[in-house]
Amino acid sequence: MRVKKAVIPAAGFGTRMLPATKSIPKEMLPLVDRPSIHYIVEEAVSSGIEEILIIISRGKEAVCDYFDYTPELEEKLKKSGREEDAAALRAIADMAKVTFIRQKEQHGLGHAVAQAKTFTGDEPFAVLLGDDVMEGNPPVTRQLLDVFEETGAPVVGVAEVPTSEIHRYCSLGVTPVSERVMEVHQLVEKPTPEQVLSNYAILGRYVLTRDIYPILEGLSTGFGGEIQLTDGLNELCRQSKLFALAYQGTRYDTGNLRGYLEAQVKLALQHPDVGAWFAEFLKTL
Ligand code: G1P
Repeated sequence: MRVKKAVIPAAGFGTRMLPATKSIPKEMLPLVDRPSIHYIVEEAVSSGIEEILIIISRGKEAVCDYFDYTPELEEKLKKSGREEDAAALRAIADMAKVTFIRQKEQHGLGHAVAQAKTFTGDEPFAVLLGDDVMEGNPPVTRQLLDVFEETGAPVVGVAEVPTSEIHRYCSLGVTPVSERVMEVHQLVEKPTPEQVLSNYAILGRYVLTRDIYPILEGLSTGFGGEIQLTDGLNELCRQSKLFALAYQGTRYDTGNLRGYLEAQVKLALQHPDVGAWFAEFLKTL
């Protein structure tokens, strides 16, 4: 079954990036010349997604504005001969059919994903976490969708993380199926050293089906007093198959300062207008 819908949870406070996020949604912090959420939507679209639901919260209206038309600004640009720039702005709003929902209270990622029930209906859907900016060819979400279309079962995107870091993510108990695909038997969110099942952690990409909703709705709070998507998946893999794909690509955790700076430098070096200049500039430091 072809997957046409994606959900992007973007309701968090962004406390790891304060004070920058005091008055700007973290998803709107720029990576070179566009906000980080632009890259996430672009990945979804280039993976074949047509409709996107972005889950926001109070104070994040700038995210909605970014995917809307800006007729006054476009008109002004056109009048001064900048037709191409005006068209580029319009193209952002036309990338996909983007809609929004406000999560009234933040009770964790599982609670956020549960808000997408009406939007996704009976259709399978991709979930892309806003903090995890990916470089991949094919795009990481496309790689997951290929596995979903082959197996018909939910898929999570995983990578091996160092033992010293795994407590920041989740840990998966898996058995290999093929070179990059594994079947998942158990998941633990933010594991203690004793709870670590393997160094495989989910890094920001999922393909889910409607089967997740009743599980999420029945879940009690987990790590941090929040409804954890990982706990929902732990229940799901007891009921039916769940696969993990060790995707090919590079991930930047733009939700913390180091990952944000890494992404900034790597993406600036690749930028068609400033990349070569930036490489020379770095050499002078
Ligand atoms: C979330 C998930 C976690 C995952 C991580 C990275 O954690 O709950 O399972 O490994 O994203 O994608 P958070 O970064 O919100 O603490």
